[in-house]
Amino acid sequence: MSALAQNETIQAILSRRTVRSYTGEPLTREEIELLSRCALYAPSARNRQSTHVRVVTDQTMLDELNRDFKDTVGWDAPAYTRWDVNPVYQTAPCMFFVFSEEDCGIDAGILVENIAIAAKALGLDSCIIGSVGALFEGAFAGKWKERLQVGANERFLISVAVGHGAEDPPAKPRAEGRLLVIEPEQA
Ligand SMILES: Cc1cc2nc3c(=O)[nH]c(=O)nc-3n(C[C@H](O)[C@H](O)[C@H](O)COP(=O)(O)O)c2cc1C
Repeated sequence: MSALAQNETIQAILSRRTVRSYTGEPLTREEIELLSRCALYAPSARNRQSTHVRVVTDQTMLDELNRDFKDTVGWDAPAYTRWDVNPVYQTAPCMFFVFSEEDCGIDAGILVENIAIAAKALGLDSCIIGSVGALFEGAFAGKWKERLQVGANERFLISVAVGHGAEDPPAKPRAEGRLLVIEPEQA
């Protein structure tokens, strides 16, 4: 591997996988603080910084959140949201939720990717989770917006679960034909 390819940041990006099973080990306070800083240091369009992040590490709250989610989408909802296979937080001990009053999904996506890459760099794993959005639109929306201290006009955009992975999935193949390098024209 070339020296450039061994770069730690490059390796964190290339070795990150979506992990949906975690050990029970909690994150340290320093890990949570570092991931939070990386989240807030994500760029935003016009530097609007209109996303709001809520970090939940309370297992009891995560369990309750999961039960309400299942009551919202149905207990037989398909893969990756099944309680018995994968709770919404994928059994991770920490979840970051991103909300905004603005339509700024790209900013939110960049923010959670910052967390996912930073987590990998710290030896942690992650799973970006969009499906939990149903919880903030259904019957429990008011309850969870209040619990997470989210404004009534704020919408859920995306979330990311972080923890110590209990699985090491291989990289999913990347589809062909998605990249074209436009070379300079020969003189
Ligand atoms: C915007 C977004 C939403 C996602 N939502 C979910 C989700 O709700 N549940 C889940 O288990 N994985 C979710 N994922 C993870 C993707 O399934 C995963 O990134 C994809 O399968 C590629 O795998 P990789 O991350 O290991 O490359 C989401 C990923 C993204 C980027």
